[in-house]
Amino acid sequence: MKRIAVMTSGGDAPGMNAAIRAVVRAGIAQGIEVYGIRQAYAGLLSGDMELLTSREVSGILQRGGTILQTARNEEFKTAQGQRKALRRLNEHNIEGVIVIGGDGSLRGATVLHDLGVPTVGVPASIDNDIYGTDTSIGVDTALNTILDALDRLRDTATSHNRCFLIEVMGRNCGYLALTGGILGGAEVIITPERPLSMEDVARDLESAYVKGKAHAIAVIAEGAPYKVTELQEFLEKQHVGFEIRLTILGHTQRGGGPTAFDRLLATRMGVEAVKRLLAGETGVMVARQGRVQTTVPLKEVTSQQREITGEYYDLAQMLQ
Ligand code: F6P
Repeated sequence: MKRIAVMTSGGDAPGMNAAIRAVVRAGIAQGIEVYGIRQAYAGLLSGDMELLTSREVSGILQRGGTILQTARNEEFKTAQGQRKALRRLNEHNIEGVIVIGGDGSLRGATVLHDLGVPTVGVPASIDNDIYGTDTSIGVDTALNTILDALDRLRDTATSHNRCFLIEVMGRNCGYLALTGGILGGAEVIITPERPLSMEDVARDLESAYVKGKAHAIAVIAEGAPYKVTELQEFLEKQHVGFEIRLTILGHTQRGGGPTAFDRLLATRMGVEAVKRLLAGETGVMVARQGRVQTTVPLKEVTSQQREITGEYYDLAQMLQ
């Protein structure tokens, strides 16, 4: 292989830039050229790609977001779009592709592989919902952002004897809510996998009030079966003792520079992706399993549901 391409796709995640830098520099170290595809599959279809030099990825290691930008694209899902993608790759003599992104992006990577393009995926999504890897690029940074917010909200909650309902991201996965809740000392944690009824939430908050707690924190995953605004309304009617306030952390969780953990993870995964691609592996995703860096077939990754370890739920219950 003489020339490969890299793209970032789906929701951005802190550490994507560190991964791009690692791919480009590892490629150059192995004597190949690395093209950057702008705006993911949309850029692949329009041929929006150019050579990335070592200089072009300088100074991006610590930056949030992605210099290649990202976009969602429907056309690539069609046969016509896929033909166009192949044509663009041929036009630029690109022999392999590295896709950095979440679930949907890795599904696209599987399609590329099926079309005969050597492709390696790198998991990047704050949600930690990607099967086959313990963690993904961006999870640690998002979790730290959540903890920072929780700590700040607890200060003001305590001063006013209030309960804060805090909605965190994660799509259909409760990982960020659960670990954020455990590490942020939440009284209540609500995830899509193990939701609590609104009545149970009211009961837990009332019991925290009766015990004499100065504040209460309830962390709610965005994938919970009811809206946080509905929960707030319900709790206000129940008069649980605390005044209720609501904060939706939203996209603040996706921004910011990556933590040391995410920089290291992204750097290692980026380099590994290049090595695997050049060694002839295709249709795989780089994965972290315990202390081992390995690969998992993309078909397995995209056809299975990642489960949160039950141990975390036990911890949450014991420590609340
Ligand atoms: O997958 C990452 C994520 O931030 C999810 O947690 C969230 O549900 C979604 O993306 C938000 O997507 P958008 O940026 O398109 O609003």
